[in-house]
Amino acid sequence: MTDRYAVFGNPIAHSKSPAIHAAFARQTGEDLVYEAILAPLDGFATSIRHFIAEGGRGANVTVPFKEEAFRLATRLTERAQRAGAVNTLTFEGQEIVGDNTDGIGLVRDIRDNLGFALQGKHILLMGAGGAARGTISPLLSESPASLTVVNRTLQKAEALRAHFGEITACSYEALAGHAYDLVINATSSGLSDTLPPLPDHLFAEGALAYDMMYGRITPFMNFAREHGVMVADGLGMLVEQAAEAFWVWRGIRPQTAPVISMLRG
Ligand code: ATR
Repeated sequence: MTDRYAVFGNPIAHSKSPAIHAAFARQTGEDLVYEAILAPLDGFATSIRHFIAEGGRGANVTVPFKEEAFRLATRLTERAQRAGAVNTLTFEGQEIVGDNTDGIGLVRDIRDNLGFALQGKHILLMGAGGAARGTISPLLSESPASLTVVNRTLQKAEALRAHFGEITACSYEALAGHAYDLVINATSSGLSDTLPPLPDHLFAEGALAYDMMYGRITPFMNFAREHGVMVADGLGMLVEQAAEAFWVWRGIRPQTAPVISMLRG
C-alpha cells in the first residue's frame, strides 16, 4: 500500500513541497504520495487527526501552524524542543512525534551546497520570530566565532539571548561599526518589499548574504548585491529541510542537488 504524507499550511496552494517529495520518491524508488492540504486557521489539529485516521504516515507543517504542531506532538525530538516549533510530524501508533528540520536544512545549504564553512565566522541573524529561533541551535553547533541576533523589536532578540545564552542581541542602530562574514535574513521584511535599516560596511570581505525567502528578489538581496557580496536565496534550505524530513520518515537520504536544479529550471 502506498504511504501517504502531506504538508499542512494556510495558505498552501503554492507550496513546492509536493514536487520536492515526488522527486525524492522517484529518485529513491520509495512508494509514497505527498499532497498539500489547506488546514482552516482554527482547524489544524482536526485536519491532522483526520489525516491520521485516513492512514497518513507523516506530515510537514508550514506557516502559520509550526507552534501549534509543537503543542500537538505527544513526543518531541531535542531539536524540535530547542526550536520551540515543529515542521515535521511522524505518526507512530498513538504517538505524534514532532521534529524540526528547518535549522539543519539551513546549515546544510550554507555549509554543503554553498561551500561556506561556518566555523570561526561572525554571523548576523536578522529577525527574532519563529524562523530565526529555529536556526539558532543548529548555527551554534557549527562553532561560529559569534552569533548576533538583530531585531526591530529589541526585547524579542533579548528574549532569545536569555533563552539560548551564547548569542548577542542588538538593535539595528547598534550594528554600525561591525562587520559580519555571514548575514542571514530571517525576517518577513521581504514580503512587504522593505529593507531593514542596515548600515553600510555591514559585510566583511568574502561575506555571504543569505535570505531565507525564495521565489522573489528581496530588497535585502539587492542591498547585498550592491555591496558586491555573494547572495543566496532560501530555495536550497527548503529542499534540504525536505530531504531531512524524508530521511526521518523513510531512513533514506535523497540527493538534493538535482532537485534544487529542477526547481530553479
Ligand atoms: P516568522 O515565523 O517568519 O519568523 P514572525 O514570527 O512574524 O514570522 O517574525 C517576523 C520577524 O520579521 C520579526 O523578527 C519582525 O520584527 P519584529 O519582531 O520587530 O516585528 C521581523 N520583521 C518583519 N518586517 C520587518 C521589517 N520591515 N524590518 C525589520 N524586521 C522586520
